[in-house]
Amino acid sequence: MNKRRMPFIVFEGLDGSGLTTQASRLHEWLSSKGYEVFLTKEPTDGLIGSLIRSALRRELIIDPDTLALLFAADRTLHTKEISKLLNEGVIVISDRYRLSSFAFQSIEVELEWIRKINEKALTPDLTFIIDTPPLICLRRIQKQRFHMELYEEVDKLERIREVYHRLAEEERGVFLIDGNRPENVVSSDIFTILRDSGLLEGLE
Ligand SMILES: Nc1ncnc2c1ncn2[C@@H]1O[C@H](COP(=O)(O)OP(=O)(O)O)[C@@H](O)[C@H]1O
Ligand SMILES: [Mg+2]
Repeated sequence: MNKRRMPFIVFEGLDGSGLTTQASRLHEWLSSKGYEVFLTKEPTDGLIGSLIRSALRRELIIDPDTLALLFAADRTLHTKEISKLLNEGVIVISDRYRLSSFAFQSIEVELEWIRKINEKALTPDLTFIIDTPPLICLRRIQKQRFHMELYEEVDKLERIREVYHRLAEEERGVFLIDGNRPENVVSSDIFTILRDSGLLEGLE
């Protein structure tokens, strides 16, 4: 078993920005190099994650504070699972993590409180914010499904995108990636950043 804690890599951005696409491309790339990699996502598939998804679809009506707490609770459970894997020698890629709460919930809830309830979350080694203009995101989503979710109005998305831009400047290990380019161009940037980060050095 590897002694060094393995890299924890996170994808962030608006829905439709290409998170799932890029997370799976990275998963595939690392697996092809022989690394043991686990791809996960938030909200999780657990009980709290299901509640969150109902709220996002507006089937469950809850206030923004409670929703922020649900995201933090879902993440707390998720973090235990992620930590265990990292300690067992597995690279973990998560499609959304802590910065999603900072960006999305801070539209309606104070960021300082959101930071506080997420204090137990890990600091990822690398975070890629896939930065895609809201109108492009919405166009991509509309091709996939017909219902719209809680955070899918252009002006809200613009504000969330602004927060992501600020976070990219303030937080450690966060890279803003232009997502409005062909999938393979976006992923080749991501692979280069990961290669240059030195995080893979010395890992078998
Ligand atoms: N770089 C890209 N250019 C054009 N379309 C893309 C790109 N990345 C993803 N897509 C398409 O946009 C849609 C949303 O992508 P997805 O990865 O599911 O986004 P997210 O997980 O961020 O919501 C999918 O249909 C996907 O094929
Ligand atoms: Mg997705």
